[in-house]
Amino acid sequence: MKSAPIHFGTIALILDQYLKENSFTSIFFLVDENTHVHCLPILLADLDNLYAYEILEVDTGEQNKNIETVENLWLALADLGADRHSLVINVGGGVITDMGGFMASTFKRGIKFINIPTTLLSQVDASVGGKNGIDLHGMKNMVGTFTEPEMVLIDPKFLKTLEQRQIKSGLAEMLKHGLIHDRDHWDNLVQLLSHNADDLAPFIMDSIEIKRQVVEQDPYEKGLRKILNFGHTIGHAIESESLETEFPLLHGEAIVIGMIIEAFLAESKGLLNAEERFEICDGFASLYALSTIDLTLFPHLIEWMSHDKKNKNNAINFSLVNKIGECTYNVICTENEIRLAFESYNNWVA
Ligand SMILES: NC(=O)c1ccc[n+]([C@@H]2O[C@H](COP(=O)([O-])OP(=O)(O)OC[C@H]3O[C@@H](n4cnc5c(N)ncnc54)[C@H](O)[C@@H]3O)[C@@H](O)[C@H]2O)c1
Repeated sequence: MKSAPIHFGTIALILDQYLKENSFTSIFFLVDENTHVHCLPILLADLDNLYAYEILEVDTGEQNKNIETVENLWLALADLGADRHSLVINVGGGVITDMGGFMASTFKRGIKFINIPTTLLSQVDASVGGKNGIDLHGMKNMVGTFTEPEMVLIDPKFLKTLEQRQIKSGLAEMLKHGLIHDRDHWDNLVQLLSHNADDLAPFIMDSIEIKRQVVEQDPYEKGLRKILNFGHTIGHAIESESLETEFPLLHGEAIVIGMIIEAFLAESKGLLNAEERFEICDGFASLYALSTIDLTLFPHLIEWMSHDKKNKNNAINFSLVNKIGECTYNVICTENEIRLAFESYNNWVA
């Protein structure tokens, strides 16, 4: 799978050029309620040419990243006469790029799509790497395809309307990139005095470059790509559980907790030394408000983890950092080892 070109900066020029060179029968912008208001008008105003287009809008939020929403989108595409030569342009966060990529890569066995990520998380992570998909009955990303978009167009100016909580959620994946592959990146991000969109913009391409390098070596996640899942086996379980509550965590917030607990797990497996585990905990604690996990939920969390895509033969499979800037994968952990890591986390937070 050839990776999609990624353009950073003045994206309207590139989009204009691409649309001029390719005569699509129809163009569909997929947005959610927020990106419809905050991002699409900016993008359209920047385009030189007027193109005929349709807008597909979905309700915002992870709880809508499911087959019902996609079915409605497929029907809308069909009603509006989309054919194999139509183009979908996903304008939004990771929910939109994941779901829009899945919708496009399956409609009529696949139509072309472009990702224009508008959250920090989707710019540094979700829109890059060719993975797309939807949740199934709350189980994260259970159904999807590996399909690269035509291109990924990243403009940090979209981040100006993003809430600080969402910025911090995206920062979590940037910190992960540092932890698994590049100590300098981790140090740079942790040392920043503030973490708003402008402060983080210079580091966006560094994060993308780390992800791109990993994906290029292993596009279908047979091995190395699994390191990108550091923090996600436990983080996804916490995210799935929290989505069933009144106050769900954001993806990055759940992944932060996942990374810390998995750092304790790595330490207990003798992979990570105590000093670096401490440094990881300290780094996250300086950036995020953390609270203990209710361990009566542990059986549920294990249930969610047992559906993780990395598992094989019913064993729970982890990607664990073995030092800051390096990660190992295919580490099998027992339920007891995982429980002890949760307890260590709770003791540390309390
Ligand atoms: N495919 C991958 O490789 C990959 C990697 C990491 C995460 N993900 C997925 O990404 C999703 C999370 O992405 P997310 O955090 O971007 O969530 P999201 O798409 O729900 O966006 C977060 C919120 O920000 C709003 N928003 C988006 N852009 C905005 C803007 N510019 N201004 C104001 N508001 C804006 C959205 O409407 C939403 O309310 C999860 O489903 C996760 O599984 C996928």
